Amino acid sequence: MGEAARIDGKAFAEGLRARVAAHAAAFRQATGRAPGLAVVLVGEDEASQVYVGAKGRACTEAGIASFEHRLPAETSAAELLTLVERLNRDPEVDGILVQLPLPAGLDEQAVIAAIDPDKDVDGFHVINAGRLAVGQRGFVPCTPLGCLMLLQDRLGDLAGLEAVVIGRSNIVGKPMAQLLTDANATVTLAHSRTRNLAEVVGRADIVVAAVGRPEMVRGDWIKPGACVIDVGINRLPPTEDRPKGRLVGDVAFAEALEVAGAITPVPGGVGPMTIAVLLRNTLVAAHAHAGLDAPEGL
Ligand code: GUN
Repeated sequence: MGEAARIDGKAFAEGLRARVAAHAAAFRQATGRAPGLAVVLVGEDEASQVYVGAKGRACTEAGIASFEHRLPAETSAAELLTLVERLNRDPEVDGILVQLPLPAGLDEQAVIAAIDPDKDVDGFHVINAGRLAVGQRGFVPCTPLGCLMLLQDRLGDLAGLEAVVIGRSNIVGKPMAQLLTDANATVTLAHSRTRNLAEVVGRADIVVAAVGRPEMVRGDWIKPGACVIDVGINRLPPTEDRPKGRLVGDVAFAEALEVAGAITPVPGGVGPMTIAVLLRNTLVAAHAHAGLDAPEGL
């Protein structure tokens, strides 16, 4: 068997962003305003600053208005909640994203709970988690929705396929398992206490790895021909020829490439999908707020 196909998440994300941009322009024509996303960053976390900058640029490129709120690390819970409430009422703001993690001392759950569920484009509010659980329309977290898009693009109908999701986080693993179940896959949600993980993974036509442990999933665990989605982004310790440390996923990529049918690389696989889906969710929110039909073909 030849080498696995590399799933080009960067190219897929660019296509999605272009479709969002076309819809955003039509929305502006129809309503006289651009869709709007408010991004709130509290404190100085370096990775978060990079993410927030990238989100702002992606919005502008897609014709979505970006409202950035950068607050000092000492911001009180009351100040942050006051800002969220103001954004909830702001008619120019369709989506609200509070970048996580928040500085120690701020209660993330309380802040997320304060966001209007119909502006919660991250899909983190319990109302949206509940909507997903019972099959109602709502916002789905961006990363797992992006993974589902890549899987359906690669495999078409997922009905009857065996899927193993590794990792049970609220942001990726749990919603991923629900999305795959809704797509009629047979889903196993594996985690740190799963016994014989290699054997469980070996049954899967679809493997989604979202554990945050570098190269944990080995090539010889994978069923030949399986489709592997690697959500992990882990930086290895620096070496002489890689002073910043190499970025690797949760899957041992070189090994998996020999066995899998298709696999997402790190970087350039799932990563670029997250922001593209955030723009898509913001566009959907804007249509709902304007009383327009949901945009099609996204
Ligand atoms: N921190 C890391 N990823 C995310 C994300 O997708 N949304 C938010 N709000 N914070 C994050």
